[in-house]
Amino acid sequence: MAVSYKKLGLVNTVEMFKKAVKGGYAIPAFNFNNMEQLQAIVSACAEKRSPVILQISSGARKYANQTLLRYMAEGAVAYAKELGWEKPQICLHLDHGADFEICKSCCDMGFSSVMIDGSSLPFDENIALTKKVVEYAHQFDVTVEGELGVLAGVEDDVVAEKSNYTEPKDVIDFVSRTGVDSLAISIGTSHGANKFTPEQCTRDENGILIPPPLRFDILEEIEVKLPGFPIVLHGSSSVPQEYVAQINKYGGALKNAVGIPEEQLRKATKSAVCKINIDSDGRLAMTAAVRKILVEQPEVFDPRKYLGPAREELKKMYMHKCEDVLGSAGKA
Ligand code: G3H
Ligand code: 13P
Ligand code: ZN
Repeated sequence: MAVSYKKLGLVNTVEMFKKAVKGGYAIPAFNFNNMEQLQAIVSACAEKRSPVILQISSGARKYANQTLLRYMAEGAVAYAKELGWEKPQICLHLDHGADFEICKSCCDMGFSSVMIDGSSLPFDENIALTKKVVEYAHQFDVTVEGELGVLAGVEDDVVAEKSNYTEPKDVIDFVSRTGVDSLAISIGTSHGANKFTPEQCTRDENGILIPPPLRFDILEEIEVKLPGFPIVLHGSSSVPQEYVAQINKYGGALKNAVGIPEEQLRKATKSAVCKINIDSDGRLAMTAAVRKILVEQPEVFDPRKYLGPAREELKKMYMHKCEDVLGSAGKA
């Protein structure tokens, strides 16, 4: 039997996005695959009183099981309340839904929002698929994110070598014909910890890679065409160089890892960008903490001894994102 997210204490993105666009901030969309990541996200957002979108990717569904993750999100609402957050603003969202069936299954099992990623399809096929998902999801007040333009890196297990920026001329047609609630666009962000090749970057005096700026001109054109319409940025990890250095110091081998500078994300939050996706930074924070402990304390073999501190590091990073980058702290 279908379960409504409303019964689980979750919310969809309608109110969140309305307030975020008006208030000039963005809602964090953090991916999770396991208990420690979820605990870190929920405790960080409860402490900061930040609305939050919990994202489940296709990789997470394969790794941890969609049903189990859904129950964990339900538990997250109760956990948030236990932490003193009276009215948690938590959305459960399918990240990069590849087809109608996956989106339907998530709507039926208690997700409050889904993304249908038809970005690699021809324009009219993307519209037809997205519209089909919207028609199904809206019956249950589940919100839908669509995507136009392709990000470089991994999307839905498909690796795109080059990004394909969103064409501003297409956005009105896409939004009006599909009925989506938000639109993910491509303006130079990409997935993973290596967002740009060294050739695309310059270097500062310490040899650190400086990435090319985001295409704010495209974002502005889109905003003119769709005033106030919720825009989403994927691939928005900043790839903190302290984590990269710590991973490499303790036996890792991350080469030329580079992300989106936080100042650029902060600038984006002032526009209609109201959802910012961050996954890789969480992976880096956890890995950096775990590597350090396992190298410095080789006698440790209780996973709580390294996953516990990793969870603390993650929480710190998430609080920083809410407070200093997205501006979502105090908005829930
Ligand atoms: O969109 C990409 C996310 O970072 C999820 O990646 O499929 O490896 O979990 P994943
Ligand atoms: P990052 O790899 O930059 O964290 O992007 C995550 C993302 O867009 C999830 O959909
Ligand atoms: Zn993404």
